[in-house]
Amino acid sequence: MIGPLLAGGLLLAAASTSAGVLSAEQQQLLAAGNPAEAAGPAKKCGKCHGESGVSDDDEIPHLAAQPASYLFKQLLDFAADRRDGGRMNKTARKLSEQDMANLVALFASTELPPMQDEPLPPEPKLVSSGDTARNLSPCKDCHGADGKGKADKYDAPALAGMPRPYFVAAMQSFKEGSRQNDADAVMRDAAKTLSVAEIDALAAYYLALGKRQPLPPQ
Ligand code: HEC
Ligand code: HEC
Repeated sequence: MIGPLLAGGLLLAAASTSAGVLSAEQQQLLAAGNPAEAAGPAKKCGKCHGESGVSDDDEIPHLAAQPASYLFKQLLDFAADRRDGGRMNKTARKLSEQDMANLVALFASTELPPMQDEPLPPEPKLVSSGDTARNLSPCKDCHGADGKGKADKYDAPALAGMPRPYFVAAMQSFKEGSRQNDADAVMRDAAKTLSVAEIDALAAYYLALGKRQPLPPQ
């Protein structure tokens, strides 16, 4: 038992140095991020994430309307290989922390425009009540009732309007444990007992909550 316990402890330690507890210097950089300074570097990001952070590729997340603190943490995590994002890791390594702070200030200040006024499917029980039998907290507790994220010790991201395939892939990577950058393993715990059907229903609900329609197949 010592092996797995030790490994778990180390992962937790790695996660908690990155999440919530940014260094004082990083917090200052984040607070002082200047969107005007990011216009140039943001052009590169726009090739994949869309101009102004609204992605038109279902497998690439929107950056628009994400809390700056969440985006900042992800860039730090990619740069330090705490999260595997393919080419994102190299992209993040090329940025200074000052660049990161400016970029996230820019994207956090842009809106995710609604694309369609679709009727919202009924809220999945997992969102509002969780599941006590499986010891699951409601998604709402951390991601907010409007799905726009919540500023607390976890600074959970916005889910409303998230492209469905990206949402499903993110949940799968937490479930399988290939994504381990969530502080206190909150998302690995949230995802590990969910079925494929449950994940899909959650993805459909959150996409509709942002009034975004799925893109046509390419
Ligand atoms: C070559 C395409 C590409 C470019 C260029 C790119 N990204 Fe990404 N980015 C991605 C992909 C794909 C992901 C999802 C990674 C994953 O989860 O596997 C991602 C994820 C992210 C995330 C995490 C978002 C979330 O919801 O967790 C952030 C933040 C991010 N990118 C910021 C940036 C910034 C800032 C730039 C410009 C400096 C940039 N990206 C340039 C493809 C790109
Ligand atoms: C205890 C708080 C907490 C609960 C409960 C929770 N989450 Fe999360 N979630 C987070 C945090 C924090 C992150 C960001 C982790 C990181 O730093 O990368 C996250 C990330 C995510 C992501 C990835 C977002 C992205 O842009 O890559 C998805 C999708 C997600 N959560 C869905 C859910 C769903 C669906 C539920 C309910 C079944 C849920 N979460 C419950 C805190 C929580």
